[in-house]
Amino acid sequence: MEFPFQLPPQLRESEDPIVTITAESLRPPRSHSGLSRNWQDMNTIIDEMGAASSKAQKLPQIITSAERLLNSNHRLYLLRDLRAPGCNVLGLIKVGEKKLFLHDEMSRMHEKTPLCVLDFYVHESCQRTGLGKLLFDYMTVVESVEPSELAIDRPSHKFLSFLGRHFGLNAPLEQANNFVVYRSFFSNKVTTSSRLEASNMPACNSQNSAVTTHDDSSQGRIRKPPMASSMNPPSRYARGANQMKTSSGLSAAMGYMPAAR
Ligand code: ACO
Repeated sequence: MEFPFQLPPQLRESEDPIVTITAESLRPPRSHSGLSRNWQDMNTIIDEMGAASSKAQKLPQIITSAERLLNSNHRLYLLRDLRAPGCNVLGLIKVGEKKLFLHDEMSRMHEKTPLCVLDFYVHESCQRTGLGKLLFDYMTVVESVEPSELAIDRPSHKFLSFLGRHFGLNAPLEQANNFVVYRSFFSNKVTTSSRLEASNMPACNSQNSAVTTHDDSSQGRIRKPPMASSMNPPSRYARGANQMKTSSGLSAAMGYMPAAR
C-alpha cells in the first residue's frame, strides 16, 4: 500500500524491511528536531493498513489502529518495500499476550497466557508470494516462540491454510473464545507457563473477541459467539527487543534481498 508521503522516522531509521512498532514508537520525541517531522504519518499507515486487514477478513470492526496500539502492549511488525522510492507498506502482523482459558483435546481446561497472533495481513497485490512467511518467521524469532506455542485469534481460512502449509499445523482446536491452538500447544509447558508467571491479572473478556457479529464467510475469520477470557498482561517485550539487533542478518537469511535505494 503506497502512501503519499515520505517514510516516517520510525520506518526511516531502520534499514530492514520489517520494523517493530509499539506504543512507545507512536509517542513523538519531545525535541522539535528534524526527527519528529512527519512522526504522525506512522499513525496513518497503521490506521490504513489496519482498515485494509479488517476489510480483507470481512471483520465488522477495525482491530488494528494507532489508537489501539497506543493503549496496549502489543507489538506490530510492519513489512515495507525497500525497493520503493517512497513509502510502500506490504504487510503487518500484530501480537500480544493474553490470559486465556483453553481446552485441550481431552476437553480439560487450562489457564494460560500465550503469545497470541491478533492480526495478520499481506497486501492483496503480493499475497501468496512468501511475504506472509517472511513476516511470521521474523516475528517468531524476535518473540522467541514456536508456531505451535501461539494462540491465534479468530484465524481466517487463509491463515489456517498458511499454518498447515508452512508449519504442518493441522486439526486446530477451536476454542469457545474464538481462539485456536494446536495439540502440541499443551505439550509445551515452558513457554506458556513462563508467560503466565509474569502476570497475576485475572482473566476477563478479550478486547478483540468482544465483536459480536458472526461472520462465517469462507474468506473471513472463523467466528463463534464471544464467551471468554483474556486480558493483556504486562509487557514482556524486552527479551525480543534484544534480538532485534540481529534483524539485518535475519532479513538477509530469509532471502529478502532489498534492492539498492
Ligand atoms: N487461499 C487459501 N490459502 C491461502 C491464500 C488463499 N487465497 N492465500 C494464502 N494462503 C495460504 C496458503 O497456505 C498458501 O500456500 P499455497 O500458495 O502453497 O497454497 C500460503 O498461505 C502462502 O504463504 P505466504 O505467501 O507466505 O502467505 P501470504 O503472503 O499470502 O500471507 C496471509 C498469508 C497473511 C494469510 C494473507 O493471505 C492475507 O493477508 N490474507 C487476508 C487476510 C487474512 O486472512 N489474515 C489472517 C487473519 S486471522 C488473524 O489475523 C489472527
